[in-house]
Amino acid sequence: MALSLNPNRSLAGPPVSYDAGLERIEIELLLEGIYRQYGFDFRSYAYASIRRRLWKRVHAEGLSSMSELQALVLHDLPAMERLLLDLSVSVTAMFRDPPFYRAFRKVVVPLLRTYPFVRIWHAGCSTGEEVYSTAIVLEEEGVLDRSRIYATDINEAVLQRARAGIFPLNRMQEYTENYIRAGGTRSFSEYYTAKYDGALFSPSLTRNTVFSQHNLVTDRSFSEFHVVFCRNVLIYFYR
Ligand SMILES: C[S@@+](CC[C@H](N)C(=O)[O-])C[C@H]1O[C@@H](n2cnc3c(N)ncnc32)[C@H](O)[C@@H]1O
Repeated sequence: MALSLNPNRSLAGPPVSYDAGLERIEIELLLEGIYRQYGFDFRSYAYASIRRRLWKRVHAEGLSSMSELQALVLHDLPAMERLLLDLSVSVTAMFRDPPFYRAFRKVVVPLLRTYPFVRIWHAGCSTGEEVYSTAIVLEEEGVLDRSRIYATDINEAVLQRARAGIFPLNRMQEYTENYIRAGGTRSFSEYYTAKYDGALFSPSLTRNTVFSQHNLVTDRSFSEFHVVFCRNVLIYFYR
């Protein structure tokens, strides 16, 4: 069977005939509409990146213009939620960048030990791998019981996964290596139970954690903290 390609349609972006100036107006109107209707403020996000993600959603919804996407998401909450998943890149990993966690354990934790109570904020925590990694370090260093960890993200869908604490089993080899490189000395498999294709992490790791939706662009800081983790989030804000 022969496939016929429409020369006016690019699957990665706009149709070739799309007017760039008009496209920018439509995108700005769409982002303004999303902000006013739902309170999610993507207006200052990097334009090239947001444009690419919006077109991905236009095609995924079977639409052909930004204005059609605007009409859809403003009237249809599930469509807005699908777009939100596209706009908020949630790539993460346990003990991501192991030297960071090694330094946290060696340099920051000794300072935290000098406080009777410690407040930590993971801003933009995604599906929670970063939160569980920190909790493991704090547990091993005897600080978890006097810590309160706030783990926030703009995206409620990723927070639900973070609360569940189930991560892909096929990444445990990589995470074990990260854990060892980050200065971990126990057996990493002590922290999870394998279930089908998931690794269920011990709920006791998050006994002092509150997961909550929070938008770094529009919501204020809600307390004072001894440590704020905000990793791989602000990169999406640069124009
Ligand atoms: C690439 S992940 C980073 C996850 C983790 N911090 C790490 O370094 O592995 C970026 C996260 O930032 C969140 N995010 C994007 N914009 C946000 C905003 N305005 N407020 C709060 N979180 C936001 C996304 O939903 C996503 O989960």
